[in-house]
Amino acid sequence: MSDARIRPATEEDLPAIVRLAGVIWRAHYPGIISPTQIEFMLARMYALDTLREEIHAKSIRYECLFVGEESVGFASYGPAEKPGVFKLHKLYLLPACHGRGLGSRLLRHCEDAARTLGARRLILSVNKRNTKAIAAYQRNGYTVAESVCVDIGGGFVMDDFVMTKELVP
Ligand SMILES: CC(C)(COP(=O)(O)OP(=O)(O)OC[C@H]1O[C@@H](n2cnc3c(N)ncnc32)[C@H](O)[C@@H]1OP(=O)(O)O)[C@@H](O)C(=O)NCCC(=O)NCCS
Repeated sequence: MSDARIRPATEEDLPAIVRLAGVIWRAHYPGIISPTQIEFMLARMYALDTLREEIHAKSIRYECLFVGEESVGFASYGPAEKPGVFKLHKLYLLPACHGRGLGSRLLRHCEDAARTLGARRLILSVNKRNTKAIAAYQRNGYTVAESVCVDIGGGFVMDDFVMTKELVP
C-alpha cells in the first residue's frame, strides 16, 4: 500500500468523515450492535456540530487516511483526564481496506502524534463483540485493562473493554 497516506483533518474534512463513518458503521456493526443502536450512536457521535466541538473545544485531533485520492479511513485521539494519558476515540477503515496493515499504520501514526503531545499511555474502548478490532489492538500491543458497561441513553449500553498501551518514549 505504498500509495496510502495520512494527514491531519481540518474542519473542511469533517463532512467527509461523517459520510465515511456512516458507510463503515452500517457495514461493520450489524451483528455487534442492533441497527437501531447503530443509527442512535451515529446521530449522537457523528453530528457535524459534535465533531466541530471536539476539534475546537476538546483538543481532539482527527487524522484522515487516503489510498490514492480516495478517503478510506480516519482516526481521532485527544487528552484524557489524567496527565500523560491520551484516548484513542476512533479508528475506522472501509471494509475493503481491512487486513492490509492499514489500520495498524493509522494507529501507529496516532500513537506517534500523541507521544509528541506528551502522551505516555494510550487508552481506548472497544465493543466486547468487536473481535476483529480487539485482535488488531492486541497485535499492536494493547491489553484489556477493564470491562465496562455504560448507559448511553435511548435504552442502549456500550458493553466495552477498555484497552491500554504504555507508549515507549
Ligand atoms: C480495527 C481496524 C481499524 C483494523 O484495521 P486492519 O487494517 O484490518 O488491521 P491491521 O492493520 O492490524 O491489519 C492486519 C491484517 O493485515 C494483514 N497484513 C497484510 N499486509 C500487512 C502489512 N504490511 N502490515 C501489517 N499487516 C498486514 C495481516 O496479516 C493481518 O491479517 P489478519 O487480520 O487476517 O490477521 C479495522 O478492522 C476496522 O476499521 N474495523 C471496523 C471499525 C472498527 O471496529 N474500529 C474500531 C473501533 S474501537
